[in-house]
Amino acid sequence: MITEQEVPATVWLTGASSGIGLALARMFAHEGFRVLATARNQDALNALKREFPARITPLPGDTTSREDVARLAKTLREQGAIELAILNAGTCEYLDVRHFDSELVGRVMETNVMGTVRCVEAVLPVLRQTRSSGLPARLAIMSSSAWWFPFPRAEAYSASKAALTTFALSLRADLAAENIPVTIISPGFVRTPLTDRNDFPMPFRIDADKAARIICRGLQRGHNEIAFPKRFTGLLKLLACLPRPLADRIAANLARNEQQKDSVL
Ligand SMILES: NC(=O)c1ccc[n+]([C@@H]2O[C@H](COP(=O)([O-])OP(=O)(O)OC[C@H]3O[C@@H](n4cnc5c(N)ncnc54)[C@H](OP(=O)(O)O)[C@@H]3O)[C@@H](O)[C@H]2O)c1
Repeated sequence: MITEQEVPATVWLTGASSGIGLALARMFAHEGFRVLATARNQDALNALKREFPARITPLPGDTTSREDVARLAKTLREQGAIELAILNAGTCEYLDVRHFDSELVGRVMETNVMGTVRCVEAVLPVLRQTRSSGLPARLAIMSSSAWWFPFPRAEAYSASKAALTTFALSLRADLAAENIPVTIISPGFVRTPLTDRNDFPMPFRIDADKAARIICRGLQRGHNEIAFPKRFTGLLKLLACLPRPLADRIAANLARNEQQKDSVL
């Protein structure tokens, strides 16, 4: 991608204070990129800056706040070329269908879908400017492979990531003429504060540094799809080939097991 320039290439990374985003920020900074790091937790961003004083620029903000994103958009325009935007900020809340809560679904959609969409609006003019000065520019959107199968309690999270993926696919088509590729990142389980809260088995879970290495490599090779770990995404692809009634039965059994486990606790 952007490796052989005299000036370090610049990455805007949201969700840089924790988990996969923090690991990505460290990896890009270590490789000599300038990282504009966004998240709400300013202390965590300042700590990251202390690790790589010359490479990290904290740009704190809440991606669900119109005012914050408008302010971020203005700051991004003042940064010069941005060759890569990784919109990674996200959240997960599980729905208990016995106490259906539309507010919960709204919160997850707001952060994962609208937060990301607002960030696209903020960074797109800068990516266009970067392209028009002859440099490459790429947009990467953090989805998930979780929505490829109807896992129990995942209504909000899966719907948000499915929406984000189809949003990104159309955006990829529309931006193709401008030569701004859109990468969709679809991890399986990664060990982070987000998944540390999960109380169910997480097959093939990998650590955040490994996830960051895979993502970084995929982006540097110009991949439009980055899905991993292969054993997990391969299994999900197999499940997706099952006839719908069979897949529904497996999903309902998983959900029943979860509910029975909850009622024992
Ligand atoms: N871990 C997994 O197994 C896994 C699998 C597939 C996809 N993902 C996706 O990967 C991304 C990162 O997840 P993670 O596992 O690394 O979780 P994490 O450790 O909880 O990190 C989430 C990051 O998003 C930021 N964030 C959340 N809400 C925000 C908001 N309103 N404004 C700005 N920043 C916000 C958080 O920063 P602040 O709290 O400081 O704002 C934090 O830096 C998410 O999109 C998640 O859906 C994770």
